[in-house]
Amino acid sequence: MSWNSRKSFEAAGDLHADHRLVPTLGWVHLVALGVGAIVGTGILTLIGVGADKAGPSVIFSFVIAGAICACAALCYAEMAVMIPASGSAYTYSYVVIGELLAWVIGWSLILEYSLVVSAVAVGWSGYAAPLLQATFGIPMEVMQAPELGGVVNLPAIFIIAVVAGLLMVGTKESANLNALLVVVKIVALAVFVAVALPAFNAANLQPFMPFGFGKTVSPDGVERGVMAAAAIIFFAFYGFDAIATAAEETRDPARNLPRGIVGSMVICVLIYMVVAAVAVGALPFKEFANSPEPLALILRELQSPMAATYLAGSAVIALPTVILAFFYGQSRIFFVMARDGLLPRGMAKVSSRGTPVRSTIFTAMVVGLVAGFFPLAEIAALANAGTLAAFVAVAVCMLVMRRRAPERHRLFRVPAAPLVGGIAILGCLYLFFSLPSKTQEYFLLWNVIGLLLYLVISRRRSRSRTA
Ligand code: ALA
Repeated sequence: MSWNSRKSFEAAGDLHADHRLVPTLGWVHLVALGVGAIVGTGILTLIGVGADKAGPSVIFSFVIAGAICACAALCYAEMAVMIPASGSAYTYSYVVIGELLAWVIGWSLILEYSLVVSAVAVGWSGYAAPLLQATFGIPMEVMQAPELGGVVNLPAIFIIAVVAGLLMVGTKESANLNALLVVVKIVALAVFVAVALPAFNAANLQPFMPFGFGKTVSPDGVERGVMAAAAIIFFAFYGFDAIATAAEETRDPARNLPRGIVGSMVICVLIYMVVAAVAVGALPFKEFANSPEPLALILRELQSPMAATYLAGSAVIALPTVILAFFYGQSRIFFVMARDGLLPRGMAKVSSRGTPVRSTIFTAMVVGLVAGFFPLAEIAALANAGTLAAFVAVAVCMLVMRRRAPERHRLFRVPAAPLVGGIAILGCLYLFFSLPSKTQEYFLLWNVIGLLLYLVISRRRSRSRTA
């Protein structure tokens, strides 16, 4: 066995009873899990960062990021049905390419899921902090990261602890609660559109593309352009891959997984197009660019303070669904990597309720620390880097399997596979290089650390070597 040893299709699903997750989820749960994961801080907060980078043409950024994500979503669906086991891109890479790439992708997924949980918890805290201050007199210093003048972001840590508790109670209960909160989020966005649409003014769209298309550095040192915005806005679209990580806990995955992934993706792309067009039409983009609560700010500027408060309240109630979905995905990535021996084996132990308690507690501690001490925009950009790496791997795996095993039965097939797979791969690479240069450097550093860990520790412990 060596670094390029592959896990067999059968091994991906052939597990001892005490290491197996209980299949409880149907496709309605999955669509709710998907929309719950996808609609969040991206559309509620990062739309402002996107507008700062692209101006009104942030609408294009949404279209570009959405189209690339849709292609990646289709690749995910084909792979998720072929390999219905926990671990998503990590497991597919292990089966299709080999252990080393699986480790790199697993390591990227750890970055993605951890940082999304942290980023959304910080976004939640941004909305919750003023309410907590007004109601309980809690000082802002303990509700903000040091870089923003605080000491620690306690609300962000608090919400992570609550979600961790929910997950440990059991997957099905958490997914049902999630479905309820998804409705709150969709209604809030509908209210935004209904109130802001009458204020649409075509003059606000001029000039449409003030910073050009490709990433360039503005005089103030900020990297801008439609693609620079798309690379950040990308955060708003992913989340459907959290469904793929739930494959092992899904009833009839061949039918339910593609429905869950593609269905939730299409719904979200449509919602974002409408919200983005209405936002940049209602107010000159500079007035809400980089606001911590851009949609609420637009409503207030339009003299609708009640609608603004309603939107902010809905965000506070519903953003935890995003944390829930990514937390769920994260603890399972740890779980599967530990089961394969690439992380400490104790993390693969499942409680009597069928949930991985140890990896959930470990995840909560790590993401809580990040959320307590770092600002939102940087966390989100780095999360995107990890996600883009995973998406490229999934599209590559889909194309490799088409060549290697064309006869293998596929319950879901990507239409025009070379084209869709090609767009997913090249599009994700283009988005990656449109990220801030600093983010790319951090991502490189993260991978160097990962590779060292693999070579020094994990490689020796790998189950493929010791089995
Ligand atoms: N798509 C998720 C969000 O926007 C990560 O919060």
